[in-house]
Amino acid sequence: MLFHVKPRGLFITFEGMDGSGKTTQMHRLAARLRSQGRTVLETAEPGGPPVAMKIRRILLDSANQELSPATEILLYFASRAQNVDEWILPALGRGEIVLSDRFTDSSLVYQGCGRELGAQAVEALDRIACRGLKPDLTLLVDVDAEASLARARARNVAEPHCETRMDDQSIEFHRKVYDAYHALAAAESERVKLVNGRTDIDAIEQEVWSIVSRYV
Ligand SMILES: Nc1ncnc2c1ncn2[C@@H]1O[C@H](COP(=O)(O)OP(=O)(O)OP(=O)(O)O)[C@@H](O)[C@H]1O
Ligand SMILES: [Mg+2]
Repeated sequence: MLFHVKPRGLFITFEGMDGSGKTTQMHRLAARLRSQGRTVLETAEPGGPPVAMKIRRILLDSANQELSPATEILLYFASRAQNVDEWILPALGRGEIVLSDRFTDSSLVYQGCGRELGAQAVEALDRIACRGLKPDLTLLVDVDAEASLARARARNVAEPHCETRMDDQSIEFHRKVYDAYHALAAAESERVKLVNGRTDIDAIEQEVWSIVSRYV
C-alpha cells in the first residue's frame, strides 16, 4: 500500500493565497482542455468525493474556531487520502488530466508554516495519504497577502457562505503563508511555476496556458 505505480495521466495543482484566483483559473483551464477533447477531473480541497466533502464542512465552518492545529492538519490529510484513493489515482490511471484546487503544498504552507507544525510532520502525513503521488505541475497564483484577503472578503460579502474559517485568520498569518509559498517556489522551481495573479482574469488565463501547453 505504501507505493503506487506512476499513473499515465497528468496531475496539475493550483496553489495560492485565499482569493488569489485559483478556482477561477482552474475552471477556465478545465474548459479549455475539454474543448480540445481532453478528459478532465476537477477537484477542490478540502473535498472531492462525498466523505471528503463531509470533512470539508468541519474544516471550513467559521463556527469551528476551537479546531486545534493537530486536528486541522489530520482532517486535511484525511480528506486528501480519500480524494487520492477514490478519485485522483483512478482518474490518472485512466490517463485523464486531474486538476486540483489545492493539494499537499497548501498543508505545507498553511499548517507546516502558518500553524508552525513543521515541514516534517506534513511530509510524514503526505507519505501515508498520497503514497508518493506528487503533482506533475503546480501553478502558484501569486497575489500579495493584503490583496488576496481583500478579494476573498469581498467575495464572502457578495456571496455569503459559512466556509470562511481560513479567511478569518489574521493578516500576519496570511503573510507567513505568502512567504512560505515563495520559499516553496524557489526550492522546487522545476515543478512549481509562479503565475502573476495581479493582472486581469484573461491575462492570467493566457499565462496559465503558456505554461500548461508545454505539458499536454
Ligand atoms: N484577476 C482577478 N482580478 C480581480 N478579481 C479576481 C481575479 N481573479 C479572481 N477574482 C475574483 O476574486 C474572488 C476570488 O477568486 P477565486 O474564488 O477564483 O479565488 P480562490 O483563490 O479560489 O479563493 P479561495 O482560496 O478563497 O477559494 C472572486 O470573486 C473572483 O471573481
Ligand atoms: Mg477557491
